[in-house]
Amino acid sequence: MIQETQIRAWNKDFEKASASEVLDFFLAHFNEKIALSSSLGLEDQVLTQMVCEIDPETSIFTLDTGRLFPETYDLIDRSSKKYKTEIKIYFPEATEVEKLVSEGGINLFYDSIENRKQCCYIRKLKPLSKALSGLDAWITGLRREQSVTRTDMQVVEWDAVNQLIKINPLIDWTESDVLSYIDQHNVPVNPLHNKGFASIGCQPCTRAIEPGEDVRAGRWWWENPETKECGLHKR
Ligand code: ADX
Ligand code: SF4
Repeated sequence: MIQETQIRAWNKDFEKASASEVLDFFLAHFNEKIALSSSLGLEDQVLTQMVCEIDPETSIFTLDTGRLFPETYDLIDRSSKKYKTEIKIYFPEATEVEKLVSEGGINLFYDSIENRKQCCYIRKLKPLSKALSGLDAWITGLRREQSVTRTDMQVVEWDAVNQLIKINPLIDWTESDVLSYIDQHNVPVNPLHNKGFASIGCQPCTRAIEPGEDVRAGRWWWENPETKECGLHKR
């Protein structure tokens, strides 16, 4: 399959490339058919800074589940102003959310993994499909170090669920690489990071972590590490 051969070749070509070099190439290669998917997390803020430096017209989108922290909404606003860019916001279908909470309750995600996955499906996965429609590639802030479910991810991957290329320029960055880049470039970040929130998603499904805990220990903390993916990055 041409796709697989091409992806393998790109991964070889970009094995030693910097994140900016990866972005430089793929932003030009996919032209207007590529977008950065941002949760406003630390990695996504690094990528926002980089793509805006390379091409300020790059499309950036975020998925607003309706359950984000107020601090995240503030950061969407601050970042759009600082980078003079629109961060396009995708919402879930209101009627689907109404049905979900009417059948399962407003905090249904705590009751079972099935409920939690259904909530992520309605509030994140379906809006993601909408955001990706018409694109040939999407850029994410995934890092191998983040989770046992991410250790074998590559810079370039085929996203079989959404049927397009996925680019992960920070895949081999460490947490300290991310923090020093933020510091050096004065990148705006969520103030919750200073209160122990390492990885930030929806408010009811994110808690602060204790020193020494895994960076994603505060996400869906009641589930096993092996099941802790909302499905955005299913492989
Ligand atoms: S998640 O699957 O557990 O929610 P995580 O928070 O680690 O993912 O983020 C990994 C990458 O997925 C981010 O760098 C970003 O590219 C994408 N992503 C996650 N949540 C969102 C969101 N709400 N909106 C847009 N992109 C997101
Ligand atoms: Fe729903 Fe929690 Fe998933 Fe957000 S992270 S979509 S609130 S289950």
